[in-house]
Order: sequence, then structure tokens, then C-alpha cells
Amino acid sequence: MAKIIAVHSFRGGTGKSNLTANLAVATALQGLRVAIVDTDLQSPGIHVLFNIDETITKKALNDYLWNRSSIADTAYDVSSHLKIEGKGKVFLIPSSLNADEIAKIISEGYNVSLLNSGFRRLIKELRLDYLFIDTHPGLSRESLLSIAISDLLIILLRPDSQDFQGTAVTVNIARQLKVQKMMMLINKIPSRIDLLALQEKVEHIYQVPVAGMFRLSEDIAQLGSSGLFCLQYSNHPFTQAIKKVVHQAIIN
Ligand SMILES: Nc1ncnc2c1ncn2[C@@H]1O[C@H](COP(=O)(O)OP(=O)(O)OP(=O)(O)O)[C@@H](O)[C@H]1O
Ligand SMILES: [Mg+2]
Repeated sequence: MAKIIAVHSFRGGTGKSNLTANLAVATALQGLRVAIVDTDLQSPGIHVLFNIDETITKKALNDYLWNRSSIADTAYDVSSHLKIEGKGKVFLIPSSLNADEIAKIISEGYNVSLLNSGFRRLIKELRLDYLFIDTHPGLSRESLLSIAISDLLIILLRPDSQDFQGTAVTVNIARQLKVQKMMMLINKIPSRIDLLALQEKVEHIYQVPVAGMFRLSEDIAQLGSSGLFCLQYSNHPFTQAIKKVVHQAIIN
């Protein structure tokens, strides 16, 4: 049975796109078929990590939402580009960076239930094991839908008072939507913060398990979303932490 994994954060810039892409690729490296859907229709970006900007001029999720294309036709197989060999596959469903397309989404809206049926079709047609959803920060129609239909909701936060407050809102809503399974990832943790104390604090506040913790890293900042960190730095502590989440929380 394929699983839908939504990655969300109440505030922006927490590292959702970077973590989603790295978790998905690390999952594919275990011989699994994964897709990543960029539901951040207002400010898309995850495609940048895959260096495939030119494909954005072809088909995107927007084409499916406006009935111009089937959802499967908006999926790009980026496995060979990432040099992933064997059974593992990574498909990317990007959102359009075209200004008119973004304006159309904001001004006209779209039938959000199409996303749900599109996800189901992708799972079937691409024979997926996992479908990862990268979301727009905060609460939007697509993030509420993603939360509601996910088998696993990953909530990302930084050790920051604004993130702590906002995350409480997301956790409450997820509970109201009766999300199947929820876990936290904490990103951008400064070196002087004690990991165990932070984990205990977060688990105590939200009563949700912390599945992974990632340090604020000069190396990730330096890469600046221009590639897949876990492929370029295979022995880095960030990559080890990603692999741990994949083994303990995703493919278990
Ligand atoms: N652990 C980390 N250490 C240092 N920089 C990081 C870390 N994780 C992510 N970043 C950087 O933070 C920035 C934002 O990351 P990203 O785009 O993944 O966040 P996001 O949550 O998807 O943002 P948005 O809410 O705008 O979609 C990027 O420049 C990325 O390289
Ligand atoms: Mg993002």
C-alpha cells in the first residue's frame, strides 16, 4: 500500500523543500518508487533542487488543475538525472513558475479535490511506494487537504519562539482532521543547543514524537538549494540524520 507523506510547517523557510527532497531521494535509494508533488502553487521552488528548470516551461501541476493535462503527464522521472540506479525511482511533479499561472491560482482558485484524485492516480499509474507532498507554509486549502489525506504528517519547525507558537496551530488542526500519524522534525538547530533537552521540550509541548533533528549547517547554506545535499555529501551528519528518519519513520 502506497503512503502519502505531507511535509508541512506553519512558518516559511524552515527547510521543508530541502528536507522533503532529501527524504524522498534517500527513500528512493532504498529501491523504492517515490514522487514529490510541489503543492506550493503560490511560490514553487522544490524543482530548483533537481536542476530541471527548463522542464517548467513544459507541463506542471497547474496544467492538471486546469484540465489541460493528465496528472501523469506532469510527472518527470528525474532518477537517471540523479544517477539513481536499480529499482528506485524519483518522479517530480513541479508547480509552474509562470507569473500568469501563479496569478490565476491566487485570483481564481481551483477545485482542491482534484489534488486528492490526482495523487491517487499518480500512485496507481506510477506504481508508487511513497508520495511526498511539499507544501506552502501556513494554512491554505492545499495544506489542509494534504494534512487530511496524509498517512504520515511531518511537521517541521526550528527552535524559534514564532515557530513554536505557529506549530501549535498546525498540530491542533491535524488532530481535528484526525491525521493518521504525525511526527516532528526540528531543523536549523544552532550548535550550542542541547539536542536531547530540545527533543524533550518539543515532545512535551506537542505530545508528538520527534523523528529527526538537524543542525544549522554552513554546508547546506553554502549549497543554497542548488542540488540534493544527501547525494553530494553522503557522509555528512545531515545525510546520516536523513537516513535515520527514512529507516525509522518512513520505510519501517
Ligand atoms: N539545516 C540547515 N542549515 C542551514 N541552512 C538550511 C538548513 N536547512 C535548510 N536550509 C536553507 O534554508 C533555506 C530555506 O530552505 P527551504 O527552501 O527548504 O525552506 P522551505 O521551508 O521550503 O521554505 P518556504 O516556506 O519558502 O517554502 C534554503 O536556503 C536552505 O538551503
Ligand atoms: Mg518550500
